[in-house]
Amino acid sequence: MAKKLSGVRGMNDLLPAEAPLWEWFEARVADWLRSYGYQQIRTPIVEYTELFVKGIGEVTDIVEKEMYSFEDKLNGEHLTLRPEFTAGVIRAVIEHNLTYDAPRRVWSMGPVFRHERPQRGRYRQFHQVNVEALGFAGPDIDAELIVMLARLWKILGIERVRLELNCLGQADERARHRADLIEYLRRYEAQLDDDAKRRLHTNPLRILDTKNPALTEIVAGAPRITDYLGTASRAHFEGLQALLGSAGIAFSVNPRMVRGLDYYNLTVFEWITDALGAQGTLCGGGRYDPLIERMGGRPTPGIGFGMGIERVIELLREAGRVPSAPVCDVYVLHQGGATQPVALRAAELLRDAGLDVILHAGEGGLKSQMRKADASGAEFALIVGAAEAAQQAAAVKALRARGAEAPFATQAVLPLAQIGEALVTALERISE
Ligand code: HAM
Repeated sequence: MAKKLSGVRGMNDLLPAEAPLWEWFEARVADWLRSYGYQQIRTPIVEYTELFVKGIGEVTDIVEKEMYSFEDKLNGEHLTLRPEFTAGVIRAVIEHNLTYDAPRRVWSMGPVFRHERPQRGRYRQFHQVNVEALGFAGPDIDAELIVMLARLWKILGIERVRLELNCLGQADERARHRADLIEYLRRYEAQLDDDAKRRLHTNPLRILDTKNPALTEIVAGAPRITDYLGTASRAHFEGLQALLGSAGIAFSVNPRMVRGLDYYNLTVFEWITDALGAQGTLCGGGRYDPLIERMGGRPTPGIGFGMGIERVIELLREAGRVPSAPVCDVYVLHQGGATQPVALRAAELLRDAGLDVILHAGEGGLKSQMRKADASGAEFALIVGAAEAAQQAAAVKALRARGAEAPFATQAVLPLAQIGEALVTALERISE
């Protein structure tokens, strides 16, 4: 027997039963982003590997061990499936000179790939809503992004979520903090785990957000980046906190939050829920002012965030938000032979009138088709029998019990040309 085919581990199918919730979410997100002046940008899923190494940073988990990188056998190019959006979006912004005359607010949505150990809320292909605001230097845009996210949670009906903030300062402030941090951690070197030992001299900041409980105490006593901030960085962070305060947004400052990508400076933030177990970060982001210049563009400040759609969807599902599956308006039945082209024409006429229509395909008697019509959730059945077809007409019958006075509670034969309008009117009456 042939080996059973299966999808790739950690990469999920989105089945029709789950699609309505994703569609509902995506539609809310697109409206929400439009209401803040964001424009969509779509970049390729595959980029040159070098882009992510440069953009995200060589000594990060993502670049060290999570990227799906491969050589294109056809031309020897080194390519990678995007492990995040920011690097690709910035590449496109620079390549097309999108910030030449004014700042830009852009968003994207789509699949992202990281070779992590799959578990609840953590997948190898997952999806993000990604937002970037480019060309804005002040804390007002930092606040706007956060206020905007608070509004999204409200739109989606998500309540169990909290906001954590930190300020990573500028390069010179981080360098002084880093030196002290290394000196401090060195004192505990013997107690560090392998990961922390390895990072001690490459990326010591990442040790601060270790998940190893044995290191909690050591990390708690470590020098805090917030104590190394100069006047300008402090003013930026305080400016943001003041704006959030006046907008009524609760937050806590977490001086150990460092984020897993290397491009950040100043503000970083995460929205976290306790409702999903270990993978509770719904959304993370921050400022990356030096990145655009580092990637070859004109110096342009930037800030953005990525949201894990699977995690938000799971939260919505837990909250019982399951939109009903979209049902069609009309199911068209026929008897094959000469009735088939008439049924096809009838279905197209109904769609011209703006109705959603399923046209029966394949064999099957009227009785079994009627069962399918019922199961489809359609409001009306349109029956094209031989007698009706000969007169370019069809019979209409309501499928849902709505009382004897309801439109088409008893079957009626109408000319094809009139049915669209009649059913649109009938649907309006039903929804009143
Ligand atoms: P990130 O924190 O790596 O940031 O990812 C953003 C979000 O993606 C996370 O908060 C989480 O919800 C979701 N996520 C990450 N990994 C997985 C996974 N394996 N399975 C499911 N969901 C996951 C970034 O990607 C930055 N590019 C965000 C950003 C944009 N910063 C500035 N601009």
